[in-house]
Amino acid sequence: MSRKIRMGMVGGGRGAFIGAIHRHAAGLDGQVELVCGAFHIDPEISVASGKDFYLPEDRCYRTYHEMFEKEAKLPADKRMDFVTIVTPNFVHFEPAKLALENGYHVVCEKPLSFSLDEALQLEALVKKTGLTFAVTHTYTGYPMVKQAREMIKEGVFGKIRKVVVEYPQGWLSTPLEQSGNQQASWRTDPKRSGKAGAVGDIGTHAENLAETITGLKITELCADVSRMVSGRLLDDDANILLRFDNGAKGVLHCSQIAAGEENALNIRVYGEKGGLEWHQMEPNTMLVKWLDKPTQVYRVGGDRAYMGAVAQANTRTPAGHPEGYLEAFGNIYKNFAKTVQARIDGKKPDPVNLDFPTVEDGVRGMKFIDAVIESGDAGAKWVKLN
Ligand SMILES: NC(=O)c1ccc[n+]([C@@H]2O[C@H](COP(=O)([O-])OP(=O)(O)OC[C@H]3O[C@@H](n4cnc5c(N)ncnc54)[C@H](O)[C@@H]3O)[C@@H](O)[C@H]2O)c1
Repeated sequence: MSRKIRMGMVGGGRGAFIGAIHRHAAGLDGQVELVCGAFHIDPEISVASGKDFYLPEDRCYRTYHEMFEKEAKLPADKRMDFVTIVTPNFVHFEPAKLALENGYHVVCEKPLSFSLDEALQLEALVKKTGLTFAVTHTYTGYPMVKQAREMIKEGVFGKIRKVVVEYPQGWLSTPLEQSGNQQASWRTDPKRSGKAGAVGDIGTHAENLAETITGLKITELCADVSRMVSGRLLDDDANILLRFDNGAKGVLHCSQIAAGEENALNIRVYGEKGGLEWHQMEPNTMLVKWLDKPTQVYRVGGDRAYMGAVAQANTRTPAGHPEGYLEAFGNIYKNFAKTVQARIDGKKPDPVNLDFPTVEDGVRGMKFIDAVIESGDAGAKWVKLN
């Protein structure tokens, strides 16, 4: 492959949040080029947004339907290779389905869809088409998260017995949605967010982090789910007990009314011989704790020989030159792009590059949402998660 892969984008135009992060992340390693998009629900703003990114006018589409129709008519050496979907949750399924049906690879935001049924349909389509589908559970892109996962996989802590994971934010401590804030409005609207609020928005990140790092699956949970802000239509706080498939137990809490918190995603995992502790807001450091010796401080860095090969493959700078959120996001794009490049060339992707969250992770997230909401609605009943 002697060219960049070509990205089309749905959502992420003027006034949007995560679309810009995707464009930075996709560009980080010089493998991806934005070539077109339908960037906004308003057709005029969509076209204007495309021009902001210096795209030619004929690739700034008014709707994603127009994008799929017109891209199909372009010669293969010009047409987009994949579609990034950065719209609110209720506009994930249709563009993702259209992309797969028209032969495009996909990067889709989380939660994967509006409902579990939609997620299962996408999973089936990915299997049928053999196309590559990434779901941007950003936090598993951090090198230290990969290091944690590899150490647990190698068994250095023995059998895992306890997982404590939390994602508190404070930005929805007031009824922000009533002030017209775009991001708050759709996140608290059951017609656009889905059946969950905070549980879908950030609880799924905590669930994905716990399952990815430990390699375990949550089999059962018991959730106390609340709407703390008066008049809010969806949950803004949840405290959840977890049971894992190896017998481990856990606690997950997510909140958007933890006043003053930013993005305090934290995880602690304990095995028979020791454990680890990682904080998203200090992502280059991990504490490794032992039953019978002093705690170690692991640090990310291309020059840190004790960091394993997988973490090193996802590190760009020497220790002390901090890598963060954009680079973690960039790792998803880097690995996705290399996988897509291999598939376009008719080659088998290198397993090192298959290291990004997939449609299966997205389905797990949707199952998690269903189980948490069912449990919460039943007054904190234990619910199975298959
Ligand atoms: N991975 C992460 O860490 C992370 C962080 C933030 C948001 N997200 C997810 O990203 C998605 C978007 O969130 P956001 O905060 O950026 O939302 P946002 O409201 O800031 O932006 C959404 C954009 O989608 C556009 N849009 C809506 N319908 C459209 C349509 N039919 N065609 C084209 N564009 C359309 C809107 O006009 C807007 O520009 C959500 O699913 C959210 O859960 C993920």
